[in-house]
Amino acid sequence: MAKITLKYVCQDCGTVHSKWGGKCEGCGAWNTMQEEAMAVTKKLVKSTKSTLEFVSIEAEENNDCERLLTDINEFDRVCGGGLVPGAVLLVGGDPGIGKSTLLLQVVSHFSKNYRCAYVSGEEAVGQVRMRAKRLGVANSDNLHLASATNVSDILLALDNLDHPVDLLIIDSIQTMTNMDVDSAPGTVSQVRICTQELITFAKTKGVCVILVGHVTKEGVIAGPRVLEHMVDTVLYFEGERNYHYRILRSVKNRFGPTDEIGVFEMTEQGLQQVPNPSALFLNQHDFPVSGSAIFAGIEGTRPILVEIQALVAPSHLATPRRTCVGWDNNRLAMILAVLESRCGLSFANRDVFLNVAGGLKITEPASDLAVAAALASALSNNPVPVKSVFFGEIGLSGEVRAVSQTELRLKEATKLGFENAYCGKKIKSGNDVDISLSSLNYLIEMMDIFRNPQHSKVRSL
Ligand code: TYD
Ligand code: MG
Repeated sequence: MAKITLKYVCQDCGTVHSKWGGKCEGCGAWNTMQEEAMAVTKKLVKSTKSTLEFVSIEAEENNDCERLLTDINEFDRVCGGGLVPGAVLLVGGDPGIGKSTLLLQVVSHFSKNYRCAYVSGEEAVGQVRMRAKRLGVANSDNLHLASATNVSDILLALDNLDHPVDLLIIDSIQTMTNMDVDSAPGTVSQVRICTQELITFAKTKGVCVILVGHVTKEGVIAGPRVLEHMVDTVLYFEGERNYHYRILRSVKNRFGPTDEIGVFEMTEQGLQQVPNPSALFLNQHDFPVSGSAIFAGIEGTRPILVEIQALVAPSHLATPRRTCVGWDNNRLAMILAVLESRCGLSFANRDVFLNVAGGLKITEPASDLAVAAALASALSNNPVPVKSVFFGEIGLSGEVRAVSQTELRLKEATKLGFENAYCGKKIKSGNDVDISLSSLNYLIEMMDIFRNPQHSKVRSL
């Protein structure tokens, strides 16, 4: 019989301690320990018989299972081309970002072809119905709705259905409970055991399970980090509240590529897909402005053009400000140092602000060149040449390195009417893109354009 013991579990990393302490020994965090009751089962007799059967890696039958498609292309692509039966997905995101809305729309599209269940632990059935009506979600017999929090009960109810479901959505994993564990919903033990139960269900029955996960104020999915290890796919739904668009990003996928993004726009009628997001992050200026450069980036497999804005202003502070929105602060410090040491620009006694327009977050090193161009343009108060895009990684010696997927970036820029591209050397010759290329060995070669605004090309291939 299981014996209940009290343990102290760090709510950040899941380390179990036998005594309470202020600091977790696992991750070093303070005040994260919480008392949780755990069942310890002692097995006295060691069994000599195993039920495990090893199988050959060669499949006897054709195991290339068909992926389930939702018809929401942006969602299917982020999942790696549809959902794999038996896969468990975790969708994380800030409160109110639109996770429930997205999944309700996904389940609605899904229910046209497959059987689905949507279980909400946060809203009553009536509330879900009201939202579904507002979103114009199709009324389908294939869609089972429920408001429940007991995982074992939910799985039993699903077993008792006349026809098994193909997709189960749990909104959210932090509200689910397992009666065997005596701690509150949302605690590490509860989240872990409920996820385990749902994963076992998914793998044995071949049902695809999508879990909604809350995020902490640091922006990671609440609960132990192991949660992300347990599931097959982790998606983050992100975006700024003040902007209408939302980005679904895959950070882990056992069945497809990661770093893929899907772009949606939040409207009165719920989330709408944005199939060509490039133009979304471009600000249209009627006249040339200084401190603005367009970055031809890649998000996942898709090209995306983003405006990088910089402002350099006189500072009255002893330590001038260096502020980044949507970009890495350390990288900004590096680019400023390269501009100062290798190109002779001085940002001393000046505040520097950098902003990625539209609220997008960029992590690609290829954005270095666009950032450097925006900064140099802001400092010199000269706009960059009209209809130009920038991409390339900058090294500490001031060299501009070529980046991958050049052709894709150039094609997208041409499509959106850009005529010049500034990039690193060693661009593959023979591409059929109609754009004037200015390939740079060193960043200093680009500085001419800010001394003489008419000069639009550094060197042509
Ligand atoms: P919701 O899906 O409840 O967020 P989450 O589950 O991530 O907490 O999204 C709620 C937000 O979305 C709310 O602030 C209002 C907005 N919204 C719209 O703008 N249009 C809509 O059609 C819907 C359903 C929600
Ligand atoms: Mg919700």
